[in-house]
Amino acid sequence: MVLHRNLGPFDTTAIGLGEMPLTIENNLGPKMGVETIHAALDAGCRQIDTAWAYYCSGGEEQTGEKLVREALASWDGPRDEVLVATKVGHFRNFTDGKPTWDVDGSPENLIKRAKQSAFELGVDMIDLLYFHRPDPKIPYGESCEAMKEIRSMGIAREIGISNASIEQIDIAREILGDSLIAVQNQFSPIYTETADTLDYCGKVGLSFVCWSPLGGFRKPKDESKFDPFREVAEAHGVSYQQVVLAWELAKGSHVFVIPGAHRPATILDSLKAGDLELTPEELAKLG
Ligand SMILES: NC(=O)c1ccc[n+]([C@@H]2O[C@H](COP(=O)([O-])OP(=O)(O)OC[C@H]3O[C@@H](n4cnc5c(N)ncnc54)[C@H](OP(=O)(O)O)[C@@H]3O)[C@@H](O)[C@H]2O)c1
Repeated sequence: MVLHRNLGPFDTTAIGLGEMPLTIENNLGPKMGVETIHAALDAGCRQIDTAWAYYCSGGEEQTGEKLVREALASWDGPRDEVLVATKVGHFRNFTDGKPTWDVDGSPENLIKRAKQSAFELGVDMIDLLYFHRPDPKIPYGESCEAMKEIRSMGIAREIGISNASIEQIDIAREILGDSLIAVQNQFSPIYTETADTLDYCGKVGLSFVCWSPLGGFRKPKDESKFDPFREVAEAHGVSYQQVVLAWELAKGSHVFVIPGAHRPATILDSLKAGDLELTPEELAKLG
């Protein structure tokens, strides 16, 4: 069985499927998207991470949420066991002719997008809704107040924040109280700048969800950071990606990972990381 942990009130898998590669640029089409989600669920994965903004710049909006809905509707397993998390506050744009990400953390926009997310996911209440990224144009507290309102309107059961500093986590805790259950920040061997927030979440009782836990699907700038993971992987006869995920999960029982995948094979391999036990010596070597 895939490793389970408590994310707020949800009993879910410590390893979730990051849906983003299935619907942004360079995705392999909706058929492969549904196959990948079904493969993950069939293997026991019970957490899917999507966002309002997971679509191709200039294309149809919310294709990520629509794909998740389609995959769950055509899956013959226990739908009510699956935690679906989504996010609001980001949208796609073109900057200098290139697809980019932009933010709108205004209360009106967050509330409007949350309603649209629930609609496209086909649910009355979203399980877990994150505020995707701070908007420098809007005081952080105002965006958090909007997330509180979204919850009191019954659109989301629980709230998370993403790309947040310790200071922002504290603002969100003050406003959202117990309805704030998770912080989703970038964290991987090539991105450890957020380690302070990972530790802080453990201290204050919040779950910490690592995004791009494998360094992202674009070639990382510093491949050599993965070398120690490759060495440990060789000793265990597993992929180095499993070692990376197991190392992250070993940082605390409040830690979750949401590896992305373009195809079934990679998420099926990643889901095995919950069974991989690293020795104290190996963990010390990996840092
Ligand atoms: N909150 C935020 O602001 C934010 C930002 C970015 C991402 N996210 C979330 O984080 C999720 C994960 O991030 P990500 O997709 O950028 O990057 P990632 O999980 O670090 O890396 C995904 C890449 O790793 C490969 N991979 C995954 N498992 C593998 C395995 N076991 N063996 C070999 N290769 C493997 C995939 O290969 P294939 O392509 O071959 O399948 C894919 O190219 C996203 O899907 C999204 O849900 C959140």
